[in-house]
Amino acid sequence: MTLTEEISKRRTFAIISHPDAGKTTLTEKLLLYGGAIHLAGSIKSRKTQRHAVSDWMEIEKQRGISVTSSVLQFDYAGCRINILDTPGHQDFSEDTYRTLMAVDSAVMIIDAAKGVEAQTKKLFKVCRERRVPIFTFINKLDRYGKIPLDLMDEIENVLGIPTYPMNFPIGVDGKYLGVYDRQKNLIELFAEDTTHGQVERVSEIFKPDDPEVIKRIGQEVWDALQDDLMLLDEAGEKFDKKKIDAGDLTPTFFGSAMTNFGVQNFLEEYLKLAPPPAPRLSDDGIIEPNDEKFSAFVFKIQANMNPAHRDRLAFIRICSGKFERNMQVWHAPSNKIIKLAQPQQFLAQERQIIEEAFPGDIVGLFDPGIFGIGDTITDTSHKFKFEDFPTFPPEKFARVQAKDTMKRKQFAKGIEQLTQEGAIQLFCPVGSGTDSYIVGTVGTLQFEVLQYRLKSEYNVEILMNMLNFEVARWLKFDDNKKITPSDLRGIDRGMFLHDRNENPVLLVENEWALGWIHDNNKNLIMSATPFENVE
Ligand code: G4P
Repeated sequence: MTLTEEISKRRTFAIISHPDAGKTTLTEKLLLYGGAIHLAGSIKSRKTQRHAVSDWMEIEKQRGISVTSSVLQFDYAGCRINILDTPGHQDFSEDTYRTLMAVDSAVMIIDAAKGVEAQTKKLFKVCRERRVPIFTFINKLDRYGKIPLDLMDEIENVLGIPTYPMNFPIGVDGKYLGVYDRQKNLIELFAEDTTHGQVERVSEIFKPDDPEVIKRIGQEVWDALQDDLMLLDEAGEKFDKKKIDAGDLTPTFFGSAMTNFGVQNFLEEYLKLAPPPAPRLSDDGIIEPNDEKFSAFVFKIQANMNPAHRDRLAFIRICSGKFERNMQVWHAPSNKIIKLAQPQQFLAQERQIIEEAFPGDIVGLFDPGIFGIGDTITDTSHKFKFEDFPTFPPEKFARVQAKDTMKRKQFAKGIEQLTQEGAIQLFCPVGSGTDSYIVGTVGTLQFEVLQYRLKSEYNVEILMNMLNFEVARWLKFDDNKKITPSDLRGIDRGMFLHDRNENPVLLVENEWALGWIHDNNKNLIMSATPFENVE
C-alpha cells in the first residue's frame, strides 16, 4: 500500500463529553462493532469491578473517572481507526487540551436527557478553535429525554454550531423503534434489546414506502415522522461537506450506546465523512501528511502506566512520512539524533511492539527522560518545529514534602517525573534545598493524583499544605537585569520562587494583589507563562 493509501484510510479522533454522557460505553461499542472485542462489557462495568482498557491507573478504578488519556486502535470497513480517550473530569483539562491537538476530528456525545453540559462546552470550544470537524452522537435514546428537535436547537444556541441530523429517531420519547437514515433514505427498525447491549443489535432495513413500516410502527408514529422530516428538509440546515470539514456544521446522530441503537450506522457514516490526517503548521510552512519525510510530535508523557513494566512512555502523533522501528530521527528541543527503539501501539486490550506506522497513528515510545510535551521529531534531513502547544498557567498551589525524610531521593525522582509528564509544575523556594517543593496545577484533583501516584509508584507518602495563592507570574525587568527578591516592592504579599529553569516566579493571592505589585514596580514585566529566551 502506498503512503497516500495508508493515510487516506486513517481516522484519528477523540470522543468529547461531560462525565457520564456515555463516552466509555460508546468507545466500547465501537470496539465491539470493529470486532476488536467480542462481548461488550469487558471494557467497563463498575458494578463487576472490571474496568476500561483505557482506564490504566488504579485511581481511575477507585474514583470511577478517567484520568489518563489513552489510545485505542482497530480496523473497520477498510479504515484504521485511532481513538484517543480524553479525560472527562474538568480538572484534567490541560491533558485533554493536549490530546485534542493530536486529533483530526472529534465526536461529541450529548446525553439526550441532559443536553449540552458544562464540560462539553469547554471541550467543544477547544475543537472549534482548532477548526476540527465535530460529529455529534446524541446518546441514551433508550430512555426519556428531551425531544430531538429541541436538542438540535440547544446545540445550535448554546454551542453556536448548526446540526445536520444524519438520522432521525422514529417513535416516541423513551420508546424509539428505529431511525430514518436521511442520506440513504432508508428506515432501520431495531429488534428488542435482550442482551443489555452485549452483542450487536439486530435490525431490519426497509425502504420508506414499504407497507411493512407502517404496520410495524403504526400510523401515528409514521405521521409524526413525516412532519419532523418535512420540517428538517424545509427549515433545517442543508448537508454541506465543506462546512462539516471546516467545523461549521455538525453531522448529528441519534442513538443509544448502551443498547446498540444506531451505533453501527453512526460508525459507518462517521468513517465516510470524517477527514483523514490533515496537514500541520510548522516553522517551515505546512507539512503535508504524504510528505515522504517522517515527522511527529509528542502530545503526552505517561510514567509507570503498567505497574509490571515501570516504564515511561512518550506518545507521539505521526504527522508525515512513514515511521519505522529503530529509525533515527532528529529531536528538535535537544538538537540531537535519537533512535526510536521499542515503539508500542495499543490494539484494543494489549500493547505490542510495532514495526511501522503512518500519519494519524499514535505510537508510544520508551522515554529515558528526553521527551517533553509538544516536542517535534523529524527526519534527519528535514529539520523543523511544529507550532507550539498552548500552555495553561497554574492556579492551585501547594507546598509538598516527603513525610519520611529518609525517602527524599525517591520523592525528588517522583516529583521530577510527574513534572516532565506535564501533570504538575514545579517551583522551588529561593535558597532552599529539595526538602520541599511548591507544586502548581491547573485543578485541585491533580494534587490527589500526585499524592496517589507518589505513594503507589514511588512508595513515598507526602505532606501537602495548600497555599492561599491563585495567580503565578513569571517576572523579568525591562532591562533583563537579574531579579532578586530585595529588588521588588511589596512582594511580602506573595511568594518569590524559581521555576525548574531558575526563572523567577511570583505567586500572589489574586488579581488585585497582582495589580498592586504591578503599580509599585514600574520596570517589572510579568507573564502568565514562562518567557521565551530568558537571559
Ligand atoms: P462516561 O465514560 O462518559 O463517563 O460515561 P459511561 O460510558 O461510563 O456511562 C455513564 C453511565 O451511563 C453508565 O451507567 C452507563 O451504563 C450509562 N449509559 C451509557 N450509555 C447509555 C445509553 O445509551 N442508555 C442508558 N440508559 N444509559 C447509558 P452507570 O450506572 O453509571 O454504570 P454501569 O454500571 O452501567 O457501568
